[in-house]
Amino acid sequence: MKTYKIAAIPGDGIGTEVIDAGVEVLKALAARDGSFAMRFDHFDWGGDYYQKHGRMMPENGREQIKDHDAILFGSAGHPDIPDHITLWGLRLAICQPFDQYANVRPTRILPGITSPLRNVSGPELDWVIVRENSEGEYAGVGGRVHQGFPEEAATDVSLMTRAGVTRIMRFAFKLAQSRPRKLLTVVTKSNAQRHAMVMWDEIAVSVAQEFPDVTWDKMLVDAMTMRMTLKPQTLDTIVATNLHADILSDLAAALAGSLGIAPTANLNPERKFPSMFEPIHGSAFDIMGKGIANPVGTFWSAVMMLEHLGEPAAATRLMKAIERVTADPDLHTPDLGGAANTRKVTEAVIGAIRAENV
Ligand code: IPM
Ligand code: MG
Repeated sequence: MKTYKIAAIPGDGIGTEVIDAGVEVLKALAARDGSFAMRFDHFDWGGDYYQKHGRMMPENGREQIKDHDAILFGSAGHPDIPDHITLWGLRLAICQPFDQYANVRPTRILPGITSPLRNVSGPELDWVIVRENSEGEYAGVGGRVHQGFPEEAATDVSLMTRAGVTRIMRFAFKLAQSRPRKLLTVVTKSNAQRHAMVMWDEIAVSVAQEFPDVTWDKMLVDAMTMRMTLKPQTLDTIVATNLHADILSDLAAALAGSLGIAPTANLNPERKFPSMFEPIHGSAFDIMGKGIANPVGTFWSAVMMLEHLGEPAAATRLMKAIERVTADPDLHTPDLGGAANTRKVTEAVIGAIRAENV
């Protein structure tokens, strides 16, 4: 029997609560399936680790997880540590060296969930956002001089490469091609940013030649926010730069009902390194320890992990169990306007996994 080795990194805040729930659900799923097992190795990296050791993860951290089949990640962020340190010290310290260049963020309105958009209830909003995850605005290029003096100057440079843009465009066109509507929207800002974004557009045009059956269009990022809000049904697969997609995916999650539900996959499509799966929501220190975090974002991320591992039947079973649970308003956590807690939702999903007809 195949045993998948999963590195669990809960991180900070509610990360621990949702990852515990995710591990429990995945174990129940493997037991129900019977054809594979999962072994979880836990890593206590994050803000608390930083306060003890002065770094977010050990120096040989990546070495410790590079041979795992996948990484299940909670969140990184700590009220007493600057955000750029937690981000660069853990999440980006894994994503970038492991070349997880394709960040995939599906958005749908799950059964029982209400969109803040009038007249939008389900089929009108079914998107996958592909976020460039290795360069662009998150390249880390820039600097500061004369810190604290009136003449201080600082830059954050968005760095794009032909290789980086080509591979994410190809990934997005391929993903669009695999979906029924074969529809891709390329988000840009080449009217104002006249170098890298113009190259981005040109590469989209040339990669499109390889996918004649995919219908695609180009959208400026500002206009894209209006289209997502006013004409959600005209969109399917979306590709955008690191920062643009970061912003648009929060909008997408809100339009689909809650940030607590949204999943994400940081993929190394060539499988040279493990890929990483995480809920989009952050560490949410305001609700930490209360046991009310929504675990659905982690469960849906686990579905993406199972798909990546090559367990489509288990992935489908888990997704059906999630949808059965979201359909019941008594099983909604406070972010969805309900009164259920993490425990109750987790038990309900496990119950649905075990139920014969799911
Ligand atoms: C996301 C998050 C992160 C990002 C934060 C936590 C740094 O917002 O995954 O979308 O900006 O990439
Ligand atoms: Mg974000």
